[in-house]
Amino acid sequence: MTERTGEGRRDEIDERVAFELTVDGEPREVKDAWWFDSLLGVLRDRLGVTGPKLACGHGRCGACTVRLDGDLACACLVPAAAAAGSDVETVASLRGADGGLTDVQEAFLATGATQCGYCTPGFVMAVTDLLERNPRPSREEILAGLYGNVCRCTGYGRIVEAVERVAAHRGGAGGAG
Ligand code: FES
Ligand code: FES
Repeated sequence: MTERTGEGRRDEIDERVAFELTVDGEPREVKDAWWFDSLLGVLRDRLGVTGPKLACGHGRCGACTVRLDGDLACACLVPAAAAAGSDVETVASLRGADGGLTDVQEAFLATGATQCGYCTPGFVMAVTDLLERNPRPSREEILAGLYGNVCRCTGYGRIVEAVERVAAHRGGAGGAG
């Protein structure tokens, strides 16, 4: 931990932390992380898990979206040590029925919902979560569900189309309008 002298000068004693967490089903050990590291930084820079992307770095774009103990989270906002013992799912955890791409990923390709692709892992995580929680989302519910994700390329129309396509193929069509 950090101590401060009476003059306010910081004497570094030990600002490193070590902990374990599960990432995409695999137990992972983190050694010598800085206490101020974000979960995104630990995933990408220490564990080599590069699906979640760094863009804004402060919770405004969704490029770093993961599921943390089952709930969507911006990994850039989560203090890494706070995720100790947690279950982290990234886009790399997703598998289709045949072990390949999921229907959400296939729909993104089919509709042209990905261009540069930088936002895509975050969107795919958000859409996957949305459709698990609400298999029949209306257009408004889709837009609300993806409110935290930003795309600079596609104009969003094709992303919404991809979501509606998956919902329809799963038998959930009817809410969109
Ligand atoms: S990089 Fe995390 S929300 Fe933008
Ligand atoms: S595809 Fe380029 S930012 Fe979304």
